[in-house]
Amino acid sequence: MRHDHLITSKQLSRADIETVLDRAAEIDADPSAVADRHANRLLGLLFFEPSTRTKMSFETAMKRLGGDVVDMGSVESSSVKKGETLADTVRVIEGYADALVLRHPKQGAATMASEFVDVPLLNAGDGAGHHPTQTLLDLYTIRENAGLDDLTIGIMGDLKYGRTVHSLAYALTNFDARQHFVSPESLQLPREVVYDLHQADGAGIREHDSLEEVLPSLDVLYVTRIQRERFPDEQEYQKVAGEYQIDMETLEAASDDLTIMHPLPRVDEIAPAIDETEYAAYFEQAHNGVPVRMALLDLFLQEGGDGDE
Ligand code: NCD
Repeated sequence: MRHDHLITSKQLSRADIETVLDRAAEIDADPSAVADRHANRLLGLLFFEPSTRTKMSFETAMKRLGGDVVDMGSVESSSVKKGETLADTVRVIEGYADALVLRHPKQGAATMASEFVDVPLLNAGDGAGHHPTQTLLDLYTIRENAGLDDLTIGIMGDLKYGRTVHSLAYALTNFDARQHFVSPESLQLPREVVYDLHQADGAGIREHDSLEEVLPSLDVLYVTRIQRERFPDEQEYQKVAGEYQIDMETLEAASDDLTIMHPLPRVDEIAPAIDETEYAAYFEQAHNGVPVRMALLDLFLQEGGDGDE
């Protein structure tokens, strides 16, 4: 895999994805083999938006590779509060760290920031844009549970503002998956994403406003949270809040082999009763963030090249 930065899943070929997933599987099987691999290397964490899983799993991944992290901390406690620009912040922190992870509320922030730094920059979510490292752990989870070949997936919820959805949809075009997008009309995929997916080779995509008609055909159902913080108007959020929830009754029409995923955090999209069933893969999915991010960091830190390879 040869990339300077990881900004969107559009830049990932099928071979790139398989390289990361295969490496993650190797690491998952024997994490002790890489326990000192990046000793003395530092990962800079710049989170301008809340995060639990992404930030902590990057931190865990870096420490499990023998390295450590330097963390900008909250926006409130950083010089961002004094008016520092993103470009200046990343230029300073690249002097402290061997790679950077950036989450930012503005779409396009990761692309812009990457233009100012020489160390690898990994996009951990830019507004309603992209979240490619989440996609890699999603693909890893799909591969383990349902396989990536001949996949029929339903992607449901906030398809407009959900960056995990945008990244996943692009990446799945590498695998000729049949993708069914289920949402209220107001939260459909952005038209430019639909256009791109149609252009991509083998993109079998369809849009629906109800889960009912597609549920029985699905191998995977990927549920997402309505992204309340991205709505320009709270009343618009209230109109769609609470729609598109699933519970045990919903699943009566599903295949016994259905895998249910969610990038988490969930609000009320998945009834807790589902957690105890064989369908639920969302906690496993969150745990997969560690080996997948270890694999990614390993690949990027090697290519960053201060030479332990
Ligand atoms: C997602 C995100 O931040 O986009 N969370 C995550 O990284 N697992 C999904 C969300 O916030 O709904």
